[in-house]
Amino acid sequence: MALLEGKTGLIVGVANDRSYAWHIANSLTEHGATCAYAHLPGDKNERRTAKAVEKIQPNPWLAPCDASSDDDLDALFAKYKADFPKMDFLVHSIAFADREWLQAGMFAKTPRKAYLDAIDVSAYTLSAMAGRAREQMAAGGGGSIMAMSYYGSEKVIPGYNIMGVAKACLESTTRYLASELGEDNIRVNTISGGFLRTLASSAVGGTDTMDAAAKEKAPLRRGVEGADVGKTAVYLASDLSSGVTGENIYVDCGMNILGG
Ligand SMILES: NC(=O)c1ccc[n+]([C@@H]2O[C@H](COP(=O)([O-])OP(=O)(O)OC[C@H]3O[C@@H](n4cnc5c(N)ncnc54)[C@H](O)[C@@H]3O)[C@@H](O)[C@H]2O)c1
Repeated sequence: MALLEGKTGLIVGVANDRSYAWHIANSLTEHGATCAYAHLPGDKNERRTAKAVEKIQPNPWLAPCDASSDDDLDALFAKYKADFPKMDFLVHSIAFADREWLQAGMFAKTPRKAYLDAIDVSAYTLSAMAGRAREQMAAGGGGSIMAMSYYGSEKVIPGYNIMGVAKACLESTTRYLASELGEDNIRVNTISGGFLRTLASSAVGGTDTMDAAAKEKAPLRRGVEGADVGKTAVYLASDLSSGVTGENIYVDCGMNILGG
């Protein structure tokens, strides 16, 4: 039997077929899961997400959500609950910061609003989604929530700036959520993915050399592929990780262990 046969959940963050969320959805589906998808509001965003996820499954369930809006989040989780009897997993794979401040040397200049917007969309929304998913997950006996992080949460990566602060906040949020939601058998973890060329990562200044650096320096002598993260998501969504919560799992071909 497939590892995720009978499991159903919501994926937030597929912009196109290069998105980490797309690779996660692809792997979860390959292992038998049924995935529903949220996309940014607007016809163009809906078409773009639909085009990508139709490569994974025909007639995907799609709903709009700007995660910075409480009303949108309420509507998304209500619509999901009306259409699906349970939520076994929730994938948070979204982040945003104004690219103007994602350049080397710009961190101290980041205005208050840009700083808070980045933390809102990239970190607070995990808590906002987990709070809305909790009841339905608990009613089904528990579930697995996962979010995407990056090494810039711990170490200074030039240009990553406010996004590094937001990822630190995301990882800490994960631990507090894991502690509170554990009593409902809901596990909450982050995957710290290696550099992957996507819409979001192209907003960060100075990433041109990161593919080459991974090939040269990473212990596995290659850059991470979306499927590497997808397979870890399968582990986190499945009962194979039944005792794992509040963790940050690196899937970066070993880049994070290097000291220089
Ligand atoms: N690409 C990398 O190198 C890398 C490495 C580690 C972690 N990550 C993380 O992976 C996650 C996914 O990013 P990606 O690289 O796949 O890029 P991506 O651009 O494909 O995905 C980012 C997603 O965030 C969504 N988003 C932005 N603002 C939103 C909002 N207000 N409401 C709802 N959705 C919103 C976008 O629609 C998009 O689907 C992010 O958390 C990112 O920080 C990326």
